[in-house]
Amino acid sequence: MKSTILAFGALASGVAAFPTFLDDLQKSSGNEKRVLGVAPGFNAQAQYVSNTGAHAFVPPNFAAGDARGPCPGLNAMANHGYLPHNGVGSHLDFIQGTLDVFGMAADLSGFLTVLGATLDGDGLSWSIGGPEPSALSLGGLLGEPQGISGSHNKYESDASPTRGDLYQVGDDYKLQMSQWQDLYARGQANGDSYDLDVLTEFRSARWDQSLNNNPYFFNGPFTGVLVAPAAYEFIYRFMGNKSAENPEGLLNGDVLMSFFAMTKNADGSFTHTPGNERIPDNWYKRAIGDEYSIPFLTLDTVSAALKYPKFLSVGGNTGTVNSFVGVQPENITGGVYSAKTLTQGNNLACFSMQFVAQAAPDLIKGSGVISNVAGALSSLTGAVSTAISGLSCPQLTKIDQSQFAQFPGYSKMKPDGTY
Ligand code: HEM
Ligand SMILES: *[C@@H]1O[C@H](CO)[C@@H](O)[C@H](O)[C@H]1NC(C)=O
Ligand SMILES: *[C@@H]1O[C@H](CO)[C@@H](O)[C@H](O)[C@H]1NC(C)=O
Repeated sequence: MKSTILAFGALASGVAAFPTFLDDLQKSSGNEKRVLGVAPGFNAQAQYVSNTGAHAFVPPNFAAGDARGPCPGLNAMANHGYLPHNGVGSHLDFIQGTLDVFGMAADLSGFLTVLGATLDGDGLSWSIGGPEPSALSLGGLLGEPQGISGSHNKYESDASPTRGDLYQVGDDYKLQMSQWQDLYARGQANGDSYDLDVLTEFRSARWDQSLNNNPYFFNGPFTGVLVAPAAYEFIYRFMGNKSAENPEGLLNGDVLMSFFAMTKNADGSFTHTPGNERIPDNWYKRAIGDEYSIPFLTLDTVSAALKYPKFLSVGGNTGTVNSFVGVQPENITGGVYSAKTLTQGNNLACFSMQFVAQAAPDLIKGSGVISNVAGALSSLTGAVSTAISGLSCPQLTKIDQSQFAQFPGYSKMKPDGTY
């Protein structure tokens, strides 16, 4: 662990230190062990997550400009002082915070934070909610960073667990009560347990709701194939309470409510307080050495897709409900990936992450925020190549998005992310 802390220091000094830092951590991320199916073990002292003292719950002050958005994990971290309370953080804040609170491996958090800063931030920092004054800056800014609430189709996806589809409900970050009630009821029917099976069934139902109700439903190669499944899998993998009896975690309704800022009323209805996501009392994170990594996320995502192959369909509705047209991965990648090879090895993560790296120049220029496009791109390319370095990915050197023009959920979006 010592070398990890040293490497964190190196990271703080600049983006260039990034790849080395990730290499170090990847070696100690415990992936090989998990892939071999070894049980994680439990150490109460090391896994207990404090929610008192310096980490006591402090609700956001929206009037004072605090940002909270679509991600309950990040909102809870900011409410408990594991991220800056205003909701704008640097790479170091996100990597350290997600490790300390949830046990997210640095290959995954490193990739996610660089992407956040590149697509939705100022290159070095980003907001977990809407637009925020820039904290740092990569060589001057041309516009205001929009944060992850304003990142539909770049980061944020349709068919999310509790958040609505942007073009259907008008925003993509507020909790929709009907979706929450559906999720809550499913785990109650499963003996007060929210496991991956419950979440996969819920996701299938949410997919069908988007398909049947959102004429602009769009499932993108990165947002739909990697971010959307992560949003479901994170619920069990990160929110579950780990213990000696349940080292992989047990997620019950009370813990779920706490992380989703919910209270239950006497009549069985719920009250939601936006932005008030809380770390429960006496709650334990993932085992040390069992951090949740990209290969781990890939395994979970592939097993969900083997159950519901529709999850891997890149494409969307064409302007009316239930009009989904799929685009073959071959057509997007010049034949490098196919529907068949996507579920093999780490190809799913390879495809998604390489796609977003290829799409990034247009996204960065389109959003018109970062003036140093080359600098932002090189940090993103570096983070992607580090994140996929151990995954034996095929080489993807260009993408073709021309067939996406038929999907209004993709083409309707203006380059700056608004519509
Ligand atoms: C740097 C790390 C992270 C980034 C950049 C990030 C970003 C995001 C984004 C952009 C979304 C919206 C995706 C969508 O449209 O569905 C999201 C949703 C979500 N995130 Fe995170 N996240 C991070 C870490 C975490 C952690 C540690 C947790 C732990 C519980 C978490 C749990 C979730 C969940 C459950 C959702 C789905 C919310 C819903 O629709 O109900 N995330 N996150
Ligand atoms: C987590 O599990 C431990 C052991 O079963 C238990 O004592 C603790 O109360 C649980 N925490 C939550 C928040 O449910
Ligand atoms: C898509 O790929 C198929 C075969 O994989 C090919 O026949 C077709 O011409 C391609 N279409 C386009 C628009 O590239």
